[in-house]
Amino acid sequence: MRYQRPKGTADILPGDSETWQFVESTARHLFSNYRFAEIRTPMFENFEVFSRTSGDTSDIVTKEMYDFKDKGDRHLSLRPEGTAGVVRAFVENKLYGPETTKPYKVYYMGPMFRYERPQSGRQREFHQIGVEAFGSDAPELDVEVIALGMDLLTRLGLKHLRLALNSLGDQETRSAYRQALIDFLEPHFDELSEDSKVRLHKNPLRVLDSKDPHDQELVADAPSILDFLTPAATEHFNRVKASLDSLGIDYDVDATMVRGLDYYNHTIFEIMADSPALGEGYTTVLAGGRYNGLVEELGGPEMPGVGFGLGVERLVLLMQAEKVAIPDVHPLDVYVVGIGDETSVETLKVVQAVRHAGLTADRDYLARKPKAQFKTANRLDARYTLTIGSQELADQTAHLKSMATGQEVTVKLASIYDDFQQVVASEFKED
Ligand code: HAM
Repeated sequence: MRYQRPKGTADILPGDSETWQFVESTARHLFSNYRFAEIRTPMFENFEVFSRTSGDTSDIVTKEMYDFKDKGDRHLSLRPEGTAGVVRAFVENKLYGPETTKPYKVYYMGPMFRYERPQSGRQREFHQIGVEAFGSDAPELDVEVIALGMDLLTRLGLKHLRLALNSLGDQETRSAYRQALIDFLEPHFDELSEDSKVRLHKNPLRVLDSKDPHDQELVADAPSILDFLTPAATEHFNRVKASLDSLGIDYDVDATMVRGLDYYNHTIFEIMADSPALGEGYTTVLAGGRYNGLVEELGGPEMPGVGFGLGVERLVLLMQAEKVAIPDVHPLDVYVVGIGDETSVETLKVVQAVRHAGLTADRDYLARKPKAQFKTANRLDARYTLTIGSQELADQTAHLKSMATGQEVTVKLASIYDDFQQVVASEFKED
């Protein structure tokens, strides 16, 4: 019996995991540069944490949730996204209190789960890197979050990015627009897809996000939410745009963009890339927005929030398509060649001594002939080889060779055990 990984999951193997490590370490550095601290929340939560926040008419809740009853009959769900769990943790740990500095800025990275139809850049287990900032209404904070997303993607070597921006306004905006959309769509009720019929009265904004081609034709002429922004919402949106302008960040306002989660208001944004790696047209790599009201929804005080989530699989596909150079994360300093079985214990001691001196080291474990071991050293691009045969063992020495110059010297094993870095420094002055 051979087992296959579940549909929509992937193994990230050496060769690719270096790219992931590069992405994660670049993100960590940048987040610390922007003063976001890491938060780690559970991979599963009570089902209601997601159903209350994502919206009960959203695809995420109605179709994509990996939810189940555990052996104690608790209704749980694997997290489909990061924001709800972070907000739950923010409330549960009372991080809104006066002891924490506001805005309270956190980041996370890890797997998320959605039961979707797998395709390039879309999986059932996928990974997000996300940030959330709580406790400020300032439009400039929205812009900090957007700028952080842009900086991250740019630092990772992506080009040809497009920032799409919209505002969903405040509560008043939403209810006025909601009614306008219902009035506009109701005469076409019979033509709507089944999903959209259900959504028209529950959450008409969802209809704008429909994937159904006929729905899309119908909503093309729908009223624009931007015409319904209250003066306060207009002011917020104008300040976001002005700040983006002042930072020289280009954007397109897309009044039809609504996002797949219900918790947003005011600023929403998506950073998209146009690459064949992700199929036809623009695909969203990073997306987010403001979610004032979400903290209250999960039992906390009134406390605004804004953040984004980045799809790591999509990002990695784009980086590969753009042939972004990944720094070698574990170059090999020393390959220790042991000739003859009798050298094996000493070889192991030498390998360990080199490692403890802070250099990377490896050796043969398959009793290969010296020639094959040197070939391996070459293939692994070792900087040095250290060779021990039976004569060297008797003399308590080893041959140290620089692979770049071919220069070879005999060194005492005792000096290797004492301080290998010192041996290299004194023997190979050019290093
Ligand atoms: P989202 O738009 O649902 O937002 O997901 C963010 C990103 O996750 C997407 O743009 C995409 O790159 C990636 N993604 C989503 N689903 C999949 C999938 N099935 N396979 C691969 N990648 C996927 C959120 O999740 C919000 N929590 C973002 C946020 C944070 N808003 C405020 N704070």
